[in-house]
Amino acid sequence: MEFKHISVLLNESVDALNITDGGTYVDGTLGGGGHSYEILSRNNGAKLIGIDRDSEAIAAAKERLSVYGDRVTAVNRNFCEIKSILQELNIDKIDGAVLDLGVSSYQLDNGGRGFSYMHDARLDMRMDKNAEKTAYDIVNSYACEELTRIFYEYGEEKWSKRIAEFIIEAREKRPVETTFELVDIIKAAIPKSARLEGGHPAKRVFQAIRIEVNDELSILENAVKDFADCLKSGGRLAVITFHSLEDRIVKKAYKDLAQGCTCPKEFPICVCGRAPEIKIISKKPVLPSQKELGDNSRSKSAKLRIAEKL
Ligand SMILES: C[S@@+](CC[C@H](N)C(=O)[O-])C[C@H]1O[C@@H](n2cnc3c(N)ncnc32)[C@H](O)[C@@H]1O
Repeated sequence: MEFKHISVLLNESVDALNITDGGTYVDGTLGGGGHSYEILSRNNGAKLIGIDRDSEAIAAAKERLSVYGDRVTAVNRNFCEIKSILQELNIDKIDGAVLDLGVSSYQLDNGGRGFSYMHDARLDMRMDKNAEKTAYDIVNSYACEELTRIFYEYGEEKWSKRIAEFIIEAREKRPVETTFELVDIIKAAIPKSARLEGGHPAKRVFQAIRIEVNDELSILENAVKDFADCLKSGGRLAVITFHSLEDRIVKKAYKDLAQGCTCPKEFPICVCGRAPEIKIISKKPVLPSQKELGDNSRSKSAKLRIAEKL
């Protein structure tokens, strides 16, 4: 299957990096290589390390970026391992990095991966096909309270408890094997009148299960802080998020890093010794233009936050 993905906030995020000659940049979410291609095309001397936990994305991006030869290093790992990845490559500090979070259109549209409520497939949703936990495991083994919690916290689904109860009832008869079986259970759990609001009725539960399968939120705050730590002074970090849960984490991580002394006001001198590590460049997140919103519906919920290392 061809790797199809339209990069979101492409110019805005790459412009933010201020690509320089001879600079080393990291794309922590390589995907189809869209952001990486743009970074490499901006300067003949720039080098790029592209990371993705999905081996299919690595293969597709390697092919697309092959025109840039040895200026590209592709790494099939989790971006939360950024510090050890750079250490293994003997790179001390980098000039900039981009994270374009979530899944690619290729992953969603590839029916066999089980990410989408639009395609019938075995419940899977792993970005890294070698990871142990699948959507099947979660749907068929988590307790009702756990399912309710993840649907509520990660999907902001108001019918969480009812959907969890319907899943438990269904799996008592036989395991829930496929995406379409799960969609039917969700539809049956949500009252008909409520099913007409808020897009596809399975959208929020599928997002929640995907986040849980791939541990997407628990790694994010530390990962953002580690990326910031790896930047040279003046280096930029550009993070694109696609839902409020991710955006809140990135915003908080930036705020923590931008904060200086945390001593109580009544202290005559600073004893914490804390200095700000970054400057927040985008006080408000950068949003897609009207043109991009018209051209690519997937950009609808995207937000870009930019920080600069001090
Ligand atoms: C939105 S796509 C990136 C698309 C890319 N920027 C482009 O323009 O072609 C996100 C990619 O990040 C990968 N990904 C998500 N979380 C990751 C993580 N923690 N570590 C490594 N890769 C991750 C996914 O597998 C997916 O391929």
